[in-house]
Amino acid sequence: MNRIAEQVREIVQPYAGKPAELIQALHRIQSTLGYLPREAQEVAAEALGVPLSQVRGVVTFYHLFRTRPAGKHTIRVCMGTACHVRGAERILAALKEELGIGPGETTADRKISLELVRCLGCCGLAPVMMVDEDVFGRLDPKKARRIVQEIRDG
Ligand code: FES
Repeated sequence: MNRIAEQVREIVQPYAGKPAELIQALHRIQSTLGYLPREAQEVAAEALGVPLSQVRGVVTFYHLFRTRPAGKHTIRVCMGTACHVRGAERILAALKEELGIGPGETTADRKISLELVRCLGCCGLAPVMMVDEDVFGRLDPKKARRIVQEIRDG
């Protein structure tokens, strides 16, 4: 057994035979490894007693799970109510187009990951996104694209 499999086996031990705790187990794995490689999904499926297809379905459905290591920078787009009302979808669409990836994915050069979050706690600045630890508010698609270009050039 290789190192990842061994590590995952240890992490999921408390969830063994508990299919209802799949999401929690996946969270634990991701917070340790930083992502959920296929191998980790296989070990989790076996330990919890759920089909691998179900694990894959959950990982694909929830944007917070990633199947590849995170990029150097992470962009978190707020999809909370205030941001939604103020055009978060348009911001997301611009970012997806600019980066060529969807939520939960990382650019091929491993530079930028894209994630969705529910309320960053600064609704007065909606629509908002975070780049690593920095908050950018009152966004419009053009501003969001410019920020991405700055990260790329940086
Ligand atoms: S809803 Fe986006 S910061 Fe609160």
